[in-house]
Amino acid sequence: MPHDTFTFIDNRDNTRYDYPILTGKRGPSVVDIRSFFKDTGMFTYDPGFTSTASCKSTITFIDGAKGELRYRGIPIEELATKHSYLETCYLLLNETLPNAEQLADFDLELRHRAFLHEGLLNLFHAFPDNAHPMATLSAATTALASFYDTHLEINDEAEYQEMARRIIAKIPTIAAYAYRHSLGIPFIYPDVDLSFTENFLTMMRAYPGGKMHRTIEGEAKIRDVEIRALDTIFTLHADHEQNASTTVVRGVASTGAHPYVAIASGIAALWGRAHGGANESVIAQLEMIGSVDNVETYIAKAKDPNDPFRLMGFGHRVYKNFDPRARILKELQDELREELGLDTELMAIARRIEEIALSDDYFISRKLYPNIDFYTGVILTALKIPKSMFTPIFVIGRTVGWVTQWIEFKKDTASKIARPRQLYIGD
Ligand code: CMC
Repeated sequence: MPHDTFTFIDNRDNTRYDYPILTGKRGPSVVDIRSFFKDTGMFTYDPGFTSTASCKSTITFIDGAKGELRYRGIPIEELATKHSYLETCYLLLNETLPNAEQLADFDLELRHRAFLHEGLLNLFHAFPDNAHPMATLSAATTALASFYDTHLEINDEAEYQEMARRIIAKIPTIAAYAYRHSLGIPFIYPDVDLSFTENFLTMMRAYPGGKMHRTIEGEAKIRDVEIRALDTIFTLHADHEQNASTTVVRGVASTGAHPYVAIASGIAALWGRAHGGANESVIAQLEMIGSVDNVETYIAKAKDPNDPFRLMGFGHRVYKNFDPRARILKELQDELREELGLDTELMAIARRIEEIALSDDYFISRKLYPNIDFYTGVILTALKIPKSMFTPIFVIGRTVGWVTQWIEFKKDTASKIARPRQLYIGD
């Protein structure tokens, strides 16, 4: 028997079916079962796609057992400590890190593309004041498609890049406007003199006219430490292979819809607390726990099979070891503890949960480690970013991943409309 086939035997009549084994560069091999239904008249059953590779990809690689994450082959630790978020975006889109000139061009282009069409601003006013920024962000991203309908039919590299750069540049502006609308305060336009991350913080925080808070000593500037922390958070969120929201983006891409509509669908999928919404839920949960003395009670609830309570920021479908993104943020948190004023009661509760969970058999046996969202919440709180903006910040970081995956899907000649089958148990 050749080494590169996998045999299924139907025990009802001993029929053999051979399927090719495809081997990638890293990670488990896959059995190519594309003709399985045609050959056997049966489907495979895999809710939640726990054993299914839905595509071939060159973008991101995760080894969940080792706790390893790479973008375009480069370890996340290297990107998060030696490169900026914009360099990471360039890497994902172009398969290589930029040189100084390429980075300067990319940065300048993004700064100039950050503005929104004035007509789009009306949309924000249609939302109630207390609208969650994720609702406004998703709707405004869908609306953006109507301003750039030429992106619907694109198939050359220059067009892909223009479409991608435009959405990466505009999402922070949309997110900041969604937030300011939720407070009922006027929008701050992007400033081409500011870097990607500082611009976003300014659009969120500044007074009308772009002025920052004035203190007795003078104007309170956005600090370098804040820019660095947020830039790292963006980098850590930039892509994560075939997660739930990316699967949605590829699914919408498969129907031929506009790329920005696919991204808006990704935003909707990310909002749920099992996915990107967990960062907001982590802090809400720490606030609910309220004191270090109450931690044990909530750990007991999380372990109780009859209680739906789950510890937010713990567990991951793929990582069965420490989430490498969480490890980087934990180090950053320790490094910036003083500068960011992280020694709060919330931090103390988080530390106690972490201590107990990492030594408790329930969590150890299920390989439940803190994930990225456990640490982003604490850092973003120290940056004085309100909870409702945590998931929009995840969106800002992830937009490059979604759009890169959208382009890869379009270029892949094996791509087909996403149309799973079912085991019908009705009647
Ligand atoms: N607290 C308590 N128990 C948990 C938790 C948790 N956070 N997560 C999983 N478990 C238990 C679960 O009850 C099950 O136990 P048992 O085997 O006794 O039934 C076991 O661990 C396996 O859980 P699962 O639900 O089958 O695992 P999954 O791979 O389907 O779900 C998950 C992964 C992330 C949805 C889940 O761990 C979870 O709900 N975590 C909390 C939400 C969260 O932090 N999400 C952010 C994920 S990282 C950011 C991102 O990439 O989106």
